[in-house]
Amino acid sequence: MKRRIALIGFGTVGQGFCEILLQKEQLLNEKYGFEAEIVAISDTLKGSISCKKGLDIQQCIDLVNNGQKLDEYKCEHGNCECGRDWDSLATIQNSNADIICELAYTDVKTGQPAITHCKTAFKNGKHIVTSNKGPAALQYSELKKLAEKNKVKFMIEGTVMSGSPVINLAEGPLAGCTISAIKGILNGTTNYMLTEMEKGMGYAEVLKKAQELGYAEADPTGDVEGFDAMAKVIILANVLMDVPLGAGAVHREGITKITSEMIESAKNENTRWKLISTIEKTENGIAASVKPEKLALTDPLANIMGATNALTFSTDLLGDVTIVGAGAGKLETGFSILTDILAIHRQIKN
Ligand SMILES: NC(=O)c1ccc[n+]([C@@H]2O[C@H](COP(=O)([O-])OP(=O)(O)OC[C@H]3O[C@@H](n4cnc5c(N)ncnc54)[C@H](OP(=O)(O)O)[C@@H]3O)[C@@H](O)[C@H]2O)c1
Repeated sequence: MKRRIALIGFGTVGQGFCEILLQKEQLLNEKYGFEAEIVAISDTLKGSISCKKGLDIQQCIDLVNNGQKLDEYKCEHGNCECGRDWDSLATIQNSNADIICELAYTDVKTGQPAITHCKTAFKNGKHIVTSNKGPAALQYSELKKLAEKNKVKFMIEGTVMSGSPVINLAEGPLAGCTISAIKGILNGTTNYMLTEMEKGMGYAEVLKKAQELGYAEADPTGDVEGFDAMAKVIILANVLMDVPLGAGAVHREGITKITSEMIESAKNENTRWKLISTIEKTENGIAASVKPEKLALTDPLANIMGATNALTFSTDLLGDVTIVGAGAGKLETGFSILTDILAIHRQIKN
């Protein structure tokens, strides 16, 4: 069965998702009866293209890899009236896609333009699949209700730990357990920096290296001051604990005050500094924080090194369950988009 998909944003994640579709086309069809047809792509930088009969994905990837615009796409279907001037909203409203992948810019202060993209999709009876943290961190319950009212899905696996199945794990295999606490390493950049500092480099030098490797942005504030991890804490509280947290309710501290001396002295005590995100049920509701913590080396989270992420769910029936995996990356986050689309596909099929 063909699922018609439109992409809003064709950067790292959008292209990663498309590469997976090409690579796994046969397996997805044979194993799950799934066929994907990308019918529109809209990107502010790379241009836009739509074809109701389906786009040649490889040609779209080749165009952007060659520094060309999607507007230069050559359609091989006859009389299909390809569109080349739709912006994101026109693409959501006018394309024949059933599923919109919102893969544009994250703004965790306003959530825009992604929140408008989501609302427009729902009002037009289209599912949203997204790795963009903005909508889920700022308006999860409102958007979920709007999606339900319009009988479509709001799928957000990629917003926390990319394709590592965190939200699906809690909502699927762990359903029936009560989760009393969630604790994890949710920012790969800072975990990479702390790992490198333990090898002897100073903070400034490590930050420069993280920027050169593309882990940290030119303005690293979002990572090193804990804002990125905080957005993920808010999403997990909203989605898995049904507690609508605002940013003001999360105690946030980054890693900027961690010195080489602190790292060295932790080493001598058989401990290790990690930027830990925690959401805990308490007698007074929920306590949520992002802050550096010195963990004993026996703690599973103490041994998560480099850019890897990890999350421990404390449950009543299974005790602690820890998932370790990628927190970012082209194919890793592209995979989260596939996971959510396959879940929609299975539901429609059944
Ligand atoms: N990359 C990862 O590993 C990862 C992991 C988890 C979550 N995410 C999230 O997933 C989303 C996509 O990430 P990415 O790495 O693919 O980002 P990216 O490489 O920067 O690509 C995003 C693309 O969307 C375009 N865009 C921005 N606003 C748009 C709009 N209103 N309409 C259409 N296109 C628009 C951007 O164009 P301009 O350059 O002109 O703005 C850019 O080409 C982001 O929200 C990101 O935070 C990424």
